[in-house]
Amino acid sequence: QELELHLEELEKGGYEHFMLKEIHEQPRSIQDCFRGRLNAKDGWVQLGGIKDHIEKIGKAKRIIFVACGTSWHAALVGEYLFEDLARIPVEVEYASEFRYRNPIIGEDDIVIAISQSGETADTLAALDIAKKKGATTLGICNVVGSSISRVTDAGSYTHAGPEIGVASTKAFTAQVTVLTLMALSIAKERATMSESQFRTILTELEQIPNKVSKVLEQNDLIEHISDVYQNANNALYLGRGSSFPVALEGALKLKEISYIHAEGYPAAEMKHGPIALIDEEMPVFVIATQGTSYEKVVSNIQEVKARKGKIIAIVTEGDTQVKAMADHVIEIPDTDENLVPLLATIPLQLLSYHVAVMRGCNVDQPRNLAKSVTVE
Ligand code: G6P
Repeated sequence: QELELHLEELEKGGYEHFMLKEIHEQPRSIQDCFRGRLNAKDGWVQLGGIKDHIEKIGKAKRIIFVACGTSWHAALVGEYLFEDLARIPVEVEYASEFRYRNPIIGEDDIVIAISQSGETADTLAALDIAKKKGATTLGICNVVGSSISRVTDAGSYTHAGPEIGVASTKAFTAQVTVLTLMALSIAKERATMSESQFRTILTELEQIPNKVSKVLEQNDLIEHISDVYQNANNALYLGRGSSFPVALEGALKLKEISYIHAEGYPAAEMKHGPIALIDEEMPVFVIATQGTSYEKVVSNIQEVKARKGKIIAIVTEGDTQVKAMADHVIEIPDTDENLVPLLATIPLQLLSYHVAVMRGCNVDQPRNLAKSVTVE
């Protein structure tokens, strides 16, 4: 027993919880994920696991992602990346819905399952249906040799290393990294990006691990913000474009480990319901980084402020406009718009972590949740 305790302390590598360790591992895990798979200087991307299928994927009429939980959020980010960079129509499905819906799929479809564990029962069942209907199936898994990695025609591992904390952190950013590499490989195959666009995004991707480290350096500020809102009963998370799934993931993290009711919304949908909930008690986390929807998000922030809601905004370094309106801002380094989810997710993970610790919750093993859901 005592030996086991010592072992666990060793495995935590000096951190108080596995979740905190895993959050801090992200510069490394993202780097491990793209090691040997891209070279910005020479301008290439290659995912060995799918290279024999890339021609077929490039010709596909559509791609369907199936996943659950956090992996489903990664799939939503993937939808933006695949459609924007590779110009292929994408559908994102909860595996549990897909499997019981008599889905319309055929031999021209590519079904991609995303799963940290590679063992989620619903995702496995969804793949089984896709296979029976003749689709090509791919997997994006973290656990090497897992069931999903074995039943799919091909796939790419995320190489994030073992994830122990029940709430997924480094596996999510690694999934998004693989999805970015996949989108870029398909874009190359389909010639949907200019060479300079392609190289710019590769160069930006190579800088992501360093930029994640810079975000992690703001831990003290994030801990302070967590302290201010630790007693909230509800929280709202808003984002647009590929930051919308980041908002969903931020809300899920808070729910999972701190048991605060939280919802993620596309910022523009706020006026169709959630705005009714806003008062001076409501923290609203907004991803308001520079990019195509910046001005629109600024208007959404004004709407929240007019109703006395509290704004905690994630902004691009050097921002002044949102800073002037928000109650708190967390700056993240500037990057390509498509890569923002990899940075904007980090402060939301840290925030949930600190709030959960302050509320005395069991961070690594939240009540009623399992790391891997192998039953229906
Ligand atoms: C469980 C875990 C989540 C995870 C989900 C999907 O609910 O608690 O963290 O996102 O399963 O798991 P998978 O292994 O398929 O990614």
